[in-house]
Amino acid sequence: MDLKWNQWALSALFLLAGVAEATVFNVKNYGAHPDGKTDIRKALISAWNDSCESIQPSTVLIPKGTYLLGPVVLKGPCKTPSIEFQVQGLVQAPPDPASFKTDGWIGFQYIDGLTVSGGGTFDGQGHKAWTINNCAANPHNCRMPPISLRFDFVNNTMIRDITSLNSKNFHINIFQSNDLTLKNLNILAPGDSANTDGIHIGDSARIHITDIVIATGDDCISIGPGTRNVNVTRVICGPGHGISIGSLGMYKGEAEVNGVFVKNSTFINTQNGVRIKTWPSSPVGTASNIVFEDLIMNNVFNPVILDQEYCPHLKCTKHNPSLVKLSNITINKIRGTSLSQLPVLIACSRGAPCENVKIGNINLKYNGTEGPAQSTSSNVKPILFGQQIPPFINI
Ligand SMILES: *[C@@H]1O[C@H](CO)[C@@H](O)[C@H](O)[C@H]1NC(C)=O
Ligand SMILES: *[C@@H]1O[C@H](CO)[C@@H](O)[C@H](O)[C@H]1NC(C)=O
Ligand SMILES: *[C@@H]1O[C@H](CO)[C@@H](O)[C@H](O)[C@H]1NC(C)=O
Ligand SMILES: *[C@@H]1O[C@H](CO)[C@@H](O)[C@H](O)[C@H]1NC(C)=O
Ligand SMILES: *[C@@H]1O[C@H](CO)[C@@H](O)[C@H](O)[C@H]1NC(C)=O
Ligand SMILES: *[C@@H]1O[C@H](CO)[C@@H](O)[C@H](O)[C@H]1NC(C)=O
Repeated sequence: MDLKWNQWALSALFLLAGVAEATVFNVKNYGAHPDGKTDIRKALISAWNDSCESIQPSTVLIPKGTYLLGPVVLKGPCKTPSIEFQVQGLVQAPPDPASFKTDGWIGFQYIDGLTVSGGGTFDGQGHKAWTINNCAANPHNCRMPPISLRFDFVNNTMIRDITSLNSKNFHINIFQSNDLTLKNLNILAPGDSANTDGIHIGDSARIHITDIVIATGDDCISIGPGTRNVNVTRVICGPGHGISIGSLGMYKGEAEVNGVFVKNSTFINTQNGVRIKTWPSSPVGTASNIVFEDLIMNNVFNPVILDQEYCPHLKCTKHNPSLVKLSNITINKIRGTSLSQLPVLIACSRGAPCENVKIGNINLKYNGTEGPAQSTSSNVKPILFGQQIPPFINI
């Protein structure tokens, strides 16, 4: 009886330890050299293929050392029940964006049960790309540099304990993927680097983002059309442009944004804190069930901004209003300092006035010399509760 029980316990233990017991496919065994000069692309693809074909849980390992890696797409579907991409080393992209024919540096596609981990660093070596990037001013006539890490059509995925450094374009892009957790990441680029959004999400659902430090030159996190159920907690953002829903309403038929929680996060010297932006003269769309709560703003220009006339570089006509409808928005417990006199600015569309906007427990001190500050709204009558510093004036 006892013996049988022990045997059962032992096999249960092995089962539980399944991940630790994973078969390891080390890129060094496939010819990768940690000399920072020899492209490990072929070695990585071979290791990935063997790992993907394994019937056991498997790990692709890039051990400690410095490696050069050209553009690569790591594809499924895989036979293995789970695949870990473990990076312990420093992986560097070729610095010249002209050497990329693709829109990404490292792509993951059609995988269920992926983990990206290991404590290592993905260095996009973006300096050259930033200096030649004119896409912000010239969106239709420019070649976008590659995004560092792309997740397309992946499910049940964990991305943790890694650093993304100096991406040429966005650091991390998530598209048509479900059930992703991003945890313990450092996402770093200079405050003046072009288009280096930290994490961009589109057409995806159930995305958890927690314990992330993002210092970058564009949005720390941007949430595009078709995104549902995103929870962001304990993010430190700055420098950067803040956490943004949008821009929405650029294209016809964009899917809705529904369910975004941003909580317990801190913004330091950012252009915006939390923002929703929609283009004027837009087709019909919706964004709803959005909560911004327990946020600290340190020297943020626009701590809370809903901007339905978003039109950077005047590349649009403000003639007609946005038809993206914003509803069920709660802004609660926001404190710190504002660099502008309008710490909470709610500019809804006259073409689709916002509905059910609740704003309370705001304590945002204006850090400037231009006279008194106030918070304002237009095309909505927000439901105010708790403290309002500065006072709220409904236009
Ligand atoms: C990896 O697998 C893909 C798809 O099965 C195949 O096309 C490719 O040739 C393989 N590459 C290597 C290096 O084994
Ligand atoms: C991911 O989930 C979606 C929705 O359930 C499904 O259509 C898709 O085939 C899944 N993809 C993979 C790679 O498992
Ligand atoms: C996000 O957080 C809210 C409130 O804490 C919770 O109700 C919701 O279920 C969470 N969403 C997901 C996808 O976990
Ligand atoms: C969020 O912040 C509130 C107030 O500071 C605190 O009570 C709560 O425990 C925090 N939650 C998390 C998940 O950090
Ligand atoms: C006010 O703004 C100045 C100039 O940007 C900055 O140095 C200072 O730290 C700010 N004070 C607070 C309390 O945020
Ligand atoms: C807004 O919230 C109300 C009450 O919770 C809910 O009935 C309604 O469906 C929500 N609206 C949208 C567009 O989700």
